[in-house]
Amino acid sequence: MHVLLLGGTGSIGSAILDELIAHGHRVTALARSERSADRLRKAGATPLPGDLTRPWDWAGFVTEADAVIQAAADFDSDMGGIDRALIEAISSAASGREIPLRLIYTGGCWLFGETGSTVADEAMPFDPLPSFAWMVENWLRLTEAPGIAPILIHPAMVWDEDGGVLHRYVEAARNGKAIEIWGAPDATWPLVHRKDLASAYRLALEHAPAGETYCVAAEQGVPTGVLADAVASCFGSKVPHTILTEADAIARHGDWAAGPALKQFMSGGKISRDLGWKPQYQDCAASFRSAAS
Ligand SMILES: NC(=O)c1ccc[n+]([C@@H]2O[C@H](COP(=O)([O-])OP(=O)(O)OC[C@H]3O[C@@H](n4cnc5c(N)ncnc54)[C@H](OP(=O)(O)O)[C@@H]3O)[C@@H](O)[C@H]2O)c1
Repeated sequence: MHVLLLGGTGSIGSAILDELIAHGHRVTALARSERSADRLRKAGATPLPGDLTRPWDWAGFVTEADAVIQAAADFDSDMGGIDRALIEAISSAASGREIPLRLIYTGGCWLFGETGSTVADEAMPFDPLPSFAWMVENWLRLTEAPGIAPILIHPAMVWDEDGGVLHRYVEAARNGKAIEIWGAPDATWPLVHRKDLASAYRLALEHAPAGETYCVAAEQGVPTGVLADAVASCFGSKVPHTILTEADAIARHGDWAAGPALKQFMSGGKISRDLGWKPQYQDCAASFRSAAS
């Protein structure tokens, strides 16, 4: 397929790009700078110059693509407003298509809020963090857009060997500092490695029926205290972790900081059953422990 990828240099998008190229798809990827364009070219994509904040400049390109994957986000600005304008521009450009444009939209585990000990799956009603409520609204807009065949993916917390969502923990441990856990050490994260997540996007691109939703977690929930201790041991750090209350984390870092403080469990059962997804990385904490130098 010919895919227009948004966010192809990001944590999630760069893994999707590698996965699509490895499986013979043709990828055109949005690039807002020459630096990003260079990275995309090296990974095998054709850069499409353009900025997420000016979608009307480049959205016409969707007439040439079979599918769009939206994995871009500008965390420093009005994410919801930018994303909404993006959806409107793409929907408008796709409205006259005979074959609907497959559009894979990225949601996330934070759209389910605190799950307690219940394991979130596709049937669970949304209870988004306020700072991400726009994602639910924009997904609903997509489901009503003519010319679009939408598919929704909810990634768990995405990790890799450099950290990913554990980046803050890795940096602290590498520098011999205390890892700071937000919320409480029993705050619990569903997890997926970025390469496994990328294979979920590809399977959804190739096989998912329009309108479907998939939660993508390889581990349903791991306490942040366990993750912090595993990362510390990876770097030989004996400094005990510290706790920053949720209220203090929000005061210092903004509303999104409520996300890492959540106690959440999420499943990857449906995508495994329906699309044959088989995650290769099933134990994030053990990977960090066994990487100890
Ligand atoms: N990471 C996770 O654990 C996780 C979990 C669940 C859901 N999500 C969701 O997944 C999405 C992607 O997250 P991520 O962690 O992969 O983000 P990321 O690593 O920060 O990547 C963001 C991407 O968006 C691009 N971008 C940002 N502003 C742009 C602009 N104005 N014009 C063009 N491109 C722009 C960046 O391009 P440049 O390289 O040019 O900056 C980069 O490719 C977000 O919606 C996030 O909420 C993430």
